[in-house]
Amino acid sequence: MKLWEKGKKYGIWNPNDFDFSQDAEDFKNLSDLEKEYLVRNVTVFQAGEEAVTLDLLPLIMTVAKEGRLEEEIYLTSFLWEEAKHVDGFNRYITEVFGDEFKGDLHHFMVDSYKEIFYELLPAALNRLTEDPSPVNMARASVTYNMIIEGVLAETGYFSFHKMLEVNQIMPGMMKFVGKLKQDESRHIAYGIYLISRLVSEHGDEVWEAVQDQMNMLLGPTMKLIQEGYDLYEVLPFNLKIEEFNEYAMGQFQKRMARLEKARNQSLKEVMDVALSEVL
Ligand code: MN
Ligand code: FE2
Repeated sequence: MKLWEKGKKYGIWNPNDFDFSQDAEDFKNLSDLEKEYLVRNVTVFQAGEEAVTLDLLPLIMTVAKEGRLEEEIYLTSFLWEEAKHVDGFNRYITEVFGDEFKGDLHHFMVDSYKEIFYELLPAALNRLTEDPSPVNMARASVTYNMIIEGVLAETGYFSFHKMLEVNQIMPGMMKFVGKLKQDESRHIAYGIYLISRLVSEHGDEVWEAVQDQMNMLLGPTMKLIQEGYDLYEVLPFNLKIEEFNEYAMGQFQKRMARLEKARNQSLKEVMDVALSEVL
C-alpha cells in the first residue's frame, strides 16, 4: 500500500502534457546517423513498453486469485503506468520524427531483442496462467522486474541521458524519461518485494529458481546491448559501447546483490529498503 500511495502521488502525470515542439526542432538538426540512432532507441523502447503492458496481466491474475488485495491494488497503478508509457512514446514518434520514420519500424529490432521481448518475456508470464506456482511467479518477476525493468530499461535511460542531456537537446524527451524512471523505480521495488516474499514463504526452491533465471537471462541481455551497437562502425553522440556494457553489468550485479541481501532480511526490512530506493 505504500507503493500504491507513491503511485497515486507520482504516477498521475499525463503524457499529453509534455511539450515536444523543441524536440521536433532539434530532431531536424540531427545528422542522418543521429536521427537513425535516436529513432532506433525510441522504437525499441516503445515496443518494450507495449510488451510489458501486454504481458503483465497473468501476474495480476495470479495475485488476485490468491486474494492479495493490496498487491492487486498496487498492480492496477503499475499496469496503467505501463499503458501511459506506450501512449507517451507513441506521441513522441508521431510528433517528433520526420515522415521517413513513420512507417513500419520492426526492422529496428535485432534478433536478441526479439528473443527477449517476443519469446522469453511472454513465455515467463503466460506460464502463470497454466501453472501459477511460486517458482514460476519468481521466474516471471525476475524476467519482468529485475531484467527488463531493472537492467534493460535502466540502461536505456542511461543511453538517453548520454545522447540528449549531455548534448542539451530534446528537453521534452528528458522530462518524459524522468517520469518513466520514477514509475519504473516503483515497479522494480514491487519486484524486489514479490521475489523476497516468495523466497521467505517457500525457501530454497524459489531462491534457486531466482538465481537460475537471473543467470539464464544474463547472456541474452548482454547480447542485446552488444548487438544494438555492433550495427554501427562509429556511434553517434560520442557514445562508447564499453560504457553501456559496464552500466548494464553494474545494474545486473546491483539487482543480484539486492536479492541476496533481501534473503537475510525480514519482509518489512526488505520493503523499507526498497521504498527508500524509490525515486
Ligand atoms: Mn514502462
Ligand atoms: Fe514498468
